[in-house]
Amino acid sequence: MENMNTNPEVCFFDSGIGGISLLYECVRRLPRVDFTYFADNFRVPYGSLPQEEIIKAVDEKFKEIESRNPTAAVVACNTVTARCIDFLRGKYKFEIVGIQPAVKPAAEKGNCLVLATPATAQSRAVKELVEKYGNGRTQVFACPDLAAYVENNVFDLSAERIKSFLPNIKVDAVVLGCTHYVFCKEVISNYCNCAVFDGIEGTADHLCKILGNSDHQTPRAQKIAFSGGDTAKNRLVFRSLMVRNGRLSQKVNI
Ligand code: DGL
Repeated sequence: MENMNTNPEVCFFDSGIGGISLLYECVRRLPRVDFTYFADNFRVPYGSLPQEEIIKAVDEKFKEIESRNPTAAVVACNTVTARCIDFLRGKYKFEIVGIQPAVKPAAEKGNCLVLATPATAQSRAVKELVEKYGNGRTQVFACPDLAAYVENNVFDLSAERIKSFLPNIKVDAVVLGCTHYVFCKEVISNYCNCAVFDGIEGTADHLCKILGNSDHQTPRAQKIAFSGGDTAKNRLVFRSLMVRNGRLSQKVNI
């Protein structure tokens, strides 16, 4: 698949810090892949922008991603997947993996609530997903301000503030339909007192399948780079996840 002297490169994109939760999982699972994380933190929340603006902003980033000739790209943002994955796949020739709300496993638990940005909640993609896998008992709730709150307070999240963004509904499962919400998973799970699904595992599985199991026997350490937006913050969030999970000793150059 690749020159054996170099690691394959996978580029990630999210508006801000949300996709770093997925990046972390993929770095853990694919130790011989290099990753570059593209973001646009100063324009968060994408979920409150009109579709044309989301497409324009994402296209700019994907032109940069294309110039790196990546093995694959991951749209680590539910909003961008819901609003422009078809556009991206039509225009760019490399593999593009998108994250979607994990409605299917959640709806198997019973009554289900999908939390998402307004752009995701109102998208045709999510309506179709809910119709297909929601078992007729799945509702979608838009949280217009939660992603921006997480983006701006990721190192100091308040459980009370997070709860103030959530609806007071009793359900059997909650789906985190925005990667920023993954940073609030524990608070949401305690507040809703039910199983919470985030789509991280499923998307990482998909990327691993696409990359195949070709063993890249390289002596190089894995490289994780950050581009666009607030790179210092994004690097710090990633490093915090590595530290929290006791993995900073992994052979990575961040
Ligand atoms: N992290 C993004 C998502 O998964 C959205 C955040 C935003 O609104 O910018 O939807």
